[in-house]
Amino acid sequence: MLQPTDPEPVAHLPPVGIFHLMTVITNVEDLRLLAQKRVPRMFYDYAASGSWTESTLRANETDFQTIKLRQRVAVNIEHRSTATTMIGTKAAMPVAIAPTGMTGMQHADGEILAAKAAEKFGIPFTLSTMSICSLEDVAAATTAPFWFQLYVMRDRDFIERLIDRAKAARCSALMLTLDLQILGQRHKDLKNGLSAPPRLTIGNIINMMTKPRWCIGMLGTKRRHFGNVVGHAKGVNTMGSLAEWSNRQLDPTLNWGDVEWIKKRWGGKLILKGIQDAEDARLAVNTGADALIVSNHGGRQLDGAESSIRALPAIVDSVGSGIEVHMDGGIRSGQDVLKACALGARGTYIGRAFLYGLGAMGEAGVTKALELIHRELDLTMAFCGKTQIEQVDRSVLLPGTFPV
Ligand code: GLV
Repeated sequence: MLQPTDPEPVAHLPPVGIFHLMTVITNVEDLRLLAQKRVPRMFYDYAASGSWTESTLRANETDFQTIKLRQRVAVNIEHRSTATTMIGTKAAMPVAIAPTGMTGMQHADGEILAAKAAEKFGIPFTLSTMSICSLEDVAAATTAPFWFQLYVMRDRDFIERLIDRAKAARCSALMLTLDLQILGQRHKDLKNGLSAPPRLTIGNIINMMTKPRWCIGMLGTKRRHFGNVVGHAKGVNTMGSLAEWSNRQLDPTLNWGDVEWIKKRWGGKLILKGIQDAEDARLAVNTGADALIVSNHGGRQLDGAESSIRALPAIVDSVGSGIEVHMDGGIRSGQDVLKACALGARGTYIGRAFLYGLGAMGEAGVTKALELIHRELDLTMAFCGKTQIEQVDRSVLLPGTFPV
């Protein structure tokens, strides 16, 4: 496992006047600012945006801030460990890389770089169906088994072949997304004409000219399309617009019967992603899945949904020990991870936090995001008087400041 490192100067921001600013990356927000400078606007916006008014996107972050921690003192906190397991997979901390669409557009070969960083750090990596690098690309570049996220599409033959490809790629868990049968509207994606690869309009060309690192990276890779889909799904040889693809491919009829079918067809560990409601959580337990993820898709689907951290405790209470409960949404720091664990999450996922690292500095940026979150988690756990992440429970939270 990597050890936390001291802050170091790692990034040169573009020239300001005649001066070069050297910045020290000390938190995920620094990575976000750098990614915003280095990634073409349409892809940065795609990662950063939420649906409609973005109220759920904001609540995912701000609701963490309202939860207060209990400082404890005079406890021997010399020897500490954040190590745990998620569905039996060892994890250096209770954090996995979330499946995120078009990751290979934040930085050339993005999924490969993020999977390598996760493997070196010792945490699980999840590849999205809507990745740029394919299942086979990631399998060839890594040795640790990774997890594969599945969107169910109308073409069931394609789904069966995708599941077989995930098995052949040695994926050790399938993560079935339940909250994206239809796509929530993200205004910026429509305004930017989001597509992969980007259409060469005058506006895009001018914007890309200000992102020379990104352009050089992209010119040096052949991976610029949706690698799991283009050339594999019937009649899909090119795929530009995300919205068009979603309308054509995503299956709005997906139901609990299909979950049973996919579980049987896959035959391995299954994680159900996108649960926000206690009744749905109990239905998820009935499927025999290994874990569920409390998630509102990073505030990208139902705008107005409760934040994940507020939804978490009721779901934990409703499922008992029948299933592992994981969560995502709004995690930008180790403090956030600690609070989620305190409220019963066995593990958490980071999406934007690693994407900003990737866009800022490629693999080194993902590693940086993981190091920062790990260090924050380790120190915050210690300030709360705990030395093992598995000891963390609601007793580290100040009563009256967290949802019950
Ligand atoms: C896909 O997962 C998206 O949120 O765009």
